[in-house]
Amino acid sequence: MARVHSDTQGVASAGSRLAARNLRLAYDKRVVVDDLSIDLPDGGFTIIVGPNACGKSTLLKALSRTLSPQSGAVLLGGKPIDSYRSKAVARELAMLPQSPIAPEAITVRDLVGRGRYPHQGLLQQWSHADETAVAAALASTGCEELGERFVSELSGGQRQRVWIAMVLAQQTDLLLLDEPTTFLDIAHQFEVLELCAQLHVEGRTLVAVLHDLNQAARYATNLVVMKAGQIVAQGKPGEILTAALVEDVFGLPCVIIADPVTGTPMVVPQAGRAQR
Ligand SMILES: Nc1ncnc2c1ncn2[C@@H]1O[C@H](COP(=O)(O)OP(=O)(O)OP(=O)(O)O)[C@@H](O)[C@H]1O
Ligand SMILES: [Mg+2]
Repeated sequence: MARVHSDTQGVASAGSRLAARNLRLAYDKRVVVDDLSIDLPDGGFTIIVGPNACGKSTLLKALSRTLSPQSGAVLLGGKPIDSYRSKAVARELAMLPQSPIAPEAITVRDLVGRGRYPHQGLLQQWSHADETAVAAALASTGCEELGERFVSELSGGQRQRVWIAMVLAQQTDLLLLDEPTTFLDIAHQFEVLELCAQLHVEGRTLVAVLHDLNQAARYATNLVVMKAGQIVAQGKPGEILTAALVEDVFGLPCVIIADPVTGTPMVVPQAGRAQR
């Protein structure tokens, strides 16, 4: 566990810039996560996996201050995240929710431009830096051609890439992405994962929820496995991803082999034999 100092300067003082301590997360009386603590390694690419409804999105909502914990705290730079102004948090941390909702009749360029709001003051005009950030975000997600289209008229996969562009335009050190590859075809899934890996190499801190265990094992520097609101395993994929763990967490008998491309663990389900 990281050391946490109290620090009146407000600079990074925890072992990790983003951490959670003894979180209890609930929707009214339905407790989803209880007594969960985690340090998201600075500069790491953390990938969270776990069965449907185990609390992955709930945890990401708390880490991004979208959901207030019933008890415990999320720490940003060693200080409770709710002690910051919301714009200050948004300059540090960008969040892609699992099911984002776009304002009506908005174009792609305007939606991606919304990612710039934490960088703008009350009287500040749209700047050259804003323009450059939006153009770079559209380019890196392959959305340049979509700029003038209405978001409501895009395919599911196109829309997902536009949301990722909006998050990138925010230009934060920390990125929280809830299922960023949902709706994407396999080539676009890997395009997004490669983009995440590139951001990681450039020094950003990423936290993503994924369902594909093999993709998670390829890209995670820190794999977090959740079950029923708890973290049951955490570490390098090659050190923690075993057949016993997958069977325990997902109830899926499998064998683990080495991924022929990367050598990382590859989960091969023991299913599909009945059809033969
Ligand atoms: N807004 C909400 N109000 C009430 N209950 C909720 C709400 N959002 C989630 N839940 C409940 O909290 C639990 C955890 O949901 P969560 O969305 O965190 O799961 P998840 O691990 O992200 O699942 P998935 O893989 O399906 O996205 C579920 O039982 C869900 O029904
Ligand atoms: Mg979810």
